[in-house]
Amino acid sequence: MTARTPAPGNRRSPEARSTVDAEVTALRPTRVEVDLEAIRHNVRHLAARAGGAQVCAVVKADGYGHGAVPVARAAREAGASWLAVALVEEGRQLRDAGIDGPILLLSEPPVAAIGELLAADLTPTVYREPFIAVLDAHGQGRGRAIDVHLKVDTGMGRVGAPEPAWQDRIEQLATSRGVHVEGISTHLARADEPAVDTTASQLAAFDRALQLAGRFGLRPALVHAANTAGVLLHPGSHRDLVRPGIGVYGLSPSAEVDALDHGLRPALRLVSEVSFAKHVAVGTPISYGHRWRAPEDGWVATVPIGYADGVPRRLTNRAQVLLGDRRHPMVGTVTMDQLHVWCGDVEPQVGDEVVLLGELRPGEGPEADDQPAPVRPEEWAAAADTITYEVATSLSARLPRVHLGA
Ligand SMILES: Cc1ncc(COP(=O)(O)O)c(C=O)c1O
Repeated sequence: MTARTPAPGNRRSPEARSTVDAEVTALRPTRVEVDLEAIRHNVRHLAARAGGAQVCAVVKADGYGHGAVPVARAAREAGASWLAVALVEEGRQLRDAGIDGPILLLSEPPVAAIGELLAADLTPTVYREPFIAVLDAHGQGRGRAIDVHLKVDTGMGRVGAPEPAWQDRIEQLATSRGVHVEGISTHLARADEPAVDTTASQLAAFDRALQLAGRFGLRPALVHAANTAGVLLHPGSHRDLVRPGIGVYGLSPSAEVDALDHGLRPALRLVSEVSFAKHVAVGTPISYGHRWRAPEDGWVATVPIGYADGVPRRLTNRAQVLLGDRRHPMVGTVTMDQLHVWCGDVEPQVGDEVVLLGELRPGEGPEADDQPAPVRPEEWAAAADTITYEVATSLSARLPRVHLGA
């Protein structure tokens, strides 16, 4: 006979929820919670690890899915002197929210975006002759040089002037009165792989570029190369400024570089509630394709979150959630809007909190020892054969973001 044990803990009364929480969950009890104190901690921690270099917090892709504006504010509060975005419209969003201070655009946008880029007072990364020429004309037209950061490709192979073009770009910049080279940068391709020495050869190439720039009178105030893994593992990459992204969010750059081992704190929780519960007989199939069947008589909970929210369909039968005081397996095919949890002999109730990512009861220190281990985005990344970056940035716009500790 099946024991009908109510799921303990995590059954919160409506009054226990914060107002913002209650508002957000009224229509759909599924949300991303972001702990801004963790963001501040991580920025301070990375700054300390970077040994005096300034920090440029990378908040592109909506702050790696955490909400760009609140994350940017928290990063600034914690001492990040720079912010970085991938797109002009991401920079515009920060300015519209009243965020001032320097914002670096990490790649060249189309030339047609230069007007908007200047209007938003973004600092462009540059590397192509025509882009620099148009920018130079703008600078000369307004009688004030535009600050730019030259990007040199030292082995990433994505964007940036390749080595044969370094001299041409440097000469162009050195003779363009409408632009001022405030920074010079490169990007590391394999800093998150401790066993390979690519970073050393990239930094040696970077030093060649800096020497060449010096020969043409360019000695930019801000030399920068380090992403999170650079900050954590490669002191030689620190220079004047570091550009951490994933570490700001407390997530691991790779399976070999664990954020927790380096003193970073995950900021994100992904939370929902049981929307339906049923007792099923052994062998009962669940969800599309019947890819899972109940191993015994027991309880199955349905949770209103699916792959349209960013839960990878590849997690089908490969992940766990926190429900009640325990970890339980996510079972059956993940569907667009809903997924299932095997609760065994624990009877779930509609409204029980389900933690898909993060810890059960954040901030409850003394009880932490009794808690099941938090579900880490790193687990999802491993199970879905991807990286934490993709897990975080795939959490879709459909999920409300609730920022705590503002
Ligand atoms: C140019 C550049 N710098 C810095 C970063 C931050 O890297 P990470 O998130 O690994 O710290 C990125 C992210 O992709 C990037 O593209």
